[in-house]
Amino acid sequence: MSIKNEAARRRTFAIISHPDAGKTTLTEKLLMYAGAIHIAGSVKARKASRHATSDWMEIEKQRGISVASSVMQMEYRDCVINLLDTPGHQDFSEDTYRVLTAVDAALMVIDAANGVEAQTLRLLEVCRARNTPILTFVNKMDREVQPPLDLIDEIERTLGMDAIPFTWPIGMGRQFHGVFDLRKKGMRVFKPGADRVDSQDELITALNDPSVQARFGASLDEAQQEIELIEGATPDFDHDEFLAGHQTPVFFGSAINNFGVREVLDALVDLAPPPESRQAMQREVLPDEQKFSGVVFKIQANMNPAHRDRIAFLRICSGQFKRGMNLKVARSGKEIRTSTVVSFLSQRRDILEEAYPGDIIGIPNHGTLQLGDTLTEGESLQFTGLPFFAPEIFRTVEIADPLRSKQLKLGLTQLGEEGAIQVFRPHIGNTLLLGAVGILQFEVVTHRLQHEYAVAARIAPAKYQLARWVTADDPRELQRFIEANAYRIAYDAVDAPTFLASFGAEISVAEENWPKIQFHKMREHA
Ligand code: G4P
Repeated sequence: MSIKNEAARRRTFAIISHPDAGKTTLTEKLLMYAGAIHIAGSVKARKASRHATSDWMEIEKQRGISVASSVMQMEYRDCVINLLDTPGHQDFSEDTYRVLTAVDAALMVIDAANGVEAQTLRLLEVCRARNTPILTFVNKMDREVQPPLDLIDEIERTLGMDAIPFTWPIGMGRQFHGVFDLRKKGMRVFKPGADRVDSQDELITALNDPSVQARFGASLDEAQQEIELIEGATPDFDHDEFLAGHQTPVFFGSAINNFGVREVLDALVDLAPPPESRQAMQREVLPDEQKFSGVVFKIQANMNPAHRDRIAFLRICSGQFKRGMNLKVARSGKEIRTSTVVSFLSQRRDILEEAYPGDIIGIPNHGTLQLGDTLTEGESLQFTGLPFFAPEIFRTVEIADPLRSKQLKLGLTQLGEEGAIQVFRPHIGNTLLLGAVGILQFEVVTHRLQHEYAVAARIAPAKYQLARWVTADDPRELQRFIEANAYRIAYDAVDAPTFLASFGAEISVAEENWPKIQFHKMREHA
């Protein structure tokens, strides 16, 4: 099959949700339908390993959150579907943000009892900023939940886009009878049961049949009235509007009962976009170009502490990946050999022979690759759009045993390169400064320092609370600024200079005094 055809049958997406909405459950069901061909630390295995393997996972277990992310690939109908998992806890939103830059669509799962929750909102903002198309699954209809009309209203208000129901629930909780397919004009009857497959579902088209009316009673009446209302009030589904992020198709169901899941999977295949062109600094790159290109959006070290490995997750943007091909890191000009590239991360690592745009590949390396790096067959390309945010919390680290300071530095550098935390090296002095967006990141870092690098570190308060990346059109001007503010300058993982401050006012003053210096809250690419 040609690169063009292979790219066209890829669907790469992530699930966004608030913890507990049912992401894990839905993921399992999607994989079940698709008969997953590759499962990176399969969902079940992951759940099991939470109780067995690495100590780092202990944090995840303790807090009931998903710290680690993984990539799953499955084949469904004629498509290859890549599902990228994202950490659920908001303290890891930076990581999630970067994962979302690697997908072409997002599936929003909401708990029908709770509606659109805080964490989902943050992630939605990320999708909206990139106009990522969003599909919506309203989960847990087998419970007493909010009225579906209210939910639709809430989705529209919070997303700022039209919600177009594709299915409509008939009843809820104990009285949940099924969903009405608004396109196929038929009802799929609900039957509880986790191992059910929906080919056994009963389908009813003659809803006005008195026996059907008698069977479902008031819930059916009510649903029919709501459907009439919805059909009158919502605009028609427009695929372009969906792709532009202005409309979201909505599906109701119950993931645990495996109900309404196939509709979502079908919608992903039918509606979600295949890989599209991506913007590099130099030019736009089309997926069906013959030459390979890809961008690193995630780095994970010590997946298995026994192996001390480090893997860069790369999203393929164009061309074909073939095992053994030589790739060039655009930033450094270094060559990467790809004989051991893996299709994803798992206990059982599969060596990858070939992959196409939209696919995620894992490249083992020892620090050659950094977040935001672009890999090509030789062309100097740098993809844009992988963001780093100015940390909102700063800390320093102290260690009891000065003999471990080399290990500490190594650990912090690696964790910084991974994006687990941002590490800043001061222009003057050598106390490393740690910056984070969420406080939990510090806990993960001390935990990992202890378990992966055998360094007992203590997090201590830092003098600074704010950072801005600084740039200038004239490099000499930047140098003057750095020298004049030497004590407030620190460099991040890729040696980009930042200006540190304790109060916002200090930044305003610096901006006034140095009009030729630009201060940035966000840094893109390496
Ligand atoms: P998450 O990954 O988004 O955090 O959510 P997860 O799938 O772990 O689901 C959170 C809880 O909600 C789980 O219950 C799960 O069984 C339940 N759940 C998921 N889908 C449905 C649904 O359609 N209906 C109902 N009633 N419950 C659902 P738990 O008790 O926290 O965990 P477990 O012991 O069942 O694994």
